[in-house]
Amino acid sequence: MRDDRLYNDADLAQFYDLDNDWSDDLSFCRQLAQGCGSVLDLGCGTGRFAADIAVTVERVVGADPARPMLDIARNRPGGERVQWVEADAKTMRLGAVFDLVVLTGHVFQVFLTRADRLAVLKTIAAHLAPEGRFVFDSRNPALTEWREWTPALSQREIDHPRLGTVASWNDVRCDERSGIVTYETFYRTADGHTFQAASDLAFASRAEIAELAEEAGLVVERWLGDWHGAPCDEGLSEIIPVGRLG
Ligand SMILES: C[S@@+](CC[C@H](N)C(=O)[O-])C[C@H]1O[C@@H](n2cnc3c(N)ncnc32)[C@H](O)[C@@H]1O
Repeated sequence: MRDDRLYNDADLAQFYDLDNDWSDDLSFCRQLAQGCGSVLDLGCGTGRFAADIAVTVERVVGADPARPMLDIARNRPGGERVQWVEADAKTMRLGAVFDLVVLTGHVFQVFLTRADRLAVLKTIAAHLAPEGRFVFDSRNPALTEWREWTPALSQREIDHPRLGTVASWNDVRCDERSGIVTYETFYRTADGHTFQAASDLAFASRAEIAELAEEAGLVVERWLGDWHGAPCDEGLSEIIPVGRLG
């Protein structure tokens, strides 16, 4: 797994919150967090979710290996209520357990091999309280959503507080043999400077996630197909396991 500049380069990390609105996954997880005493946000990124729930949840830990993302997280309003940990979700062991463990924003897809996906599921299991719950999302491979991440279909404009209007777009390719999708993200400022990163994602099947979750000692209680609670289905965009320790 290479270091992704999208998250590990401060010049690119500064665009994350501007390019990614608060989304349904975060609202769903916010509901799940209600009444929890402790929440672990794995791959917390710029910390929007962790800082938001830390208003009501007593102990919130946000973990991410990308320092520029954590720097944004630490400095956001409410960031002081969260414990930020610079760590890889494959190997992190905090020696603590939580009422809820979440991976939002398709973090699960940055784990490119079966072994890495098993490792992160074991990390979830190692940090769950006996009655704790976990949830994460992975895009349904059957929908090949990545085919739309082309320059023509992804053109957008971003209002940056210092750089003004920034043109943004993606490009994409899929390695047919491994199934790994590599997408590029471009941000071009009005003076013609372009910031650019290439990111890899895997699209695991529900069957594989189920097998690995069991191997990691987890039980999936519900499989959702979107963040509005629809059951997982071939035609829906998401694979969302909600579960607990086995
Ligand atoms: C698409 S962002 C999602 C951020 C956040 N969860 C959200 O919903 O806005 C993916 C995040 O996964 C993080 N990530 C990449 N590799 C990771 C790893 N090995 N362990 C934990 N997080 C990782 C990246 O640094 C990045 O912050």
